[in-house]
Amino acid sequence: MDGSPIDWEALAGAAEAARARAYAPYSGFAVGAAILFEDGAITQGANVENASYGLGVCAERNAVAAGVLGGHGRPRAVLIFTSAGHPVPPCGACRQVLAEFAGPELPVQSRTAAGARRMHRLAELLPEAFGPEWLGR
Ligand code: THU
Repeated sequence: MDGSPIDWEALAGAAEAARARAYAPYSGFAVGAAILFEDGAITQGANVENASYGLGVCAERNAVAAGVLGGHGRPRAVLIFTSAGHPVPPCGACRQVLAEFAGPELPVQSRTAAGARRMHRLAELLPEAFGPEWLGR
């Protein structure tokens, strides 16, 4: 694990740029996410909706998938960017997907275009996470 400081401004820039690519014609709620991985790579994700509404995928899960595809290791930090009135935390499904690949201390920062910020640890957002250890394999 790279112990270097987390460059939150780089993550915010990446997440803001990702948000501009969101495909959210149904909700009108564009979300961008950026994840810093242990090899130093930053991946981006945006929400991608569908006319079959339930098939939409959140920004965070698309950023996780890009990290898996790139072989970048474990996530070190996540930033979620919206233009909502308040910083938006990840949805429950995205918390679970993050927990698959990151430890409970993962910092998750939410920012708005107006500059508001909130910071959480993954364990605060998803206590008692279900993980592979519960499969009893
Ligand atoms: N959305 C995300 O991309 N991430 C979140 O954490 C919350 C919700 C998306 C899903 C949907 O496309 C839109 O925001 C409205 O819920």
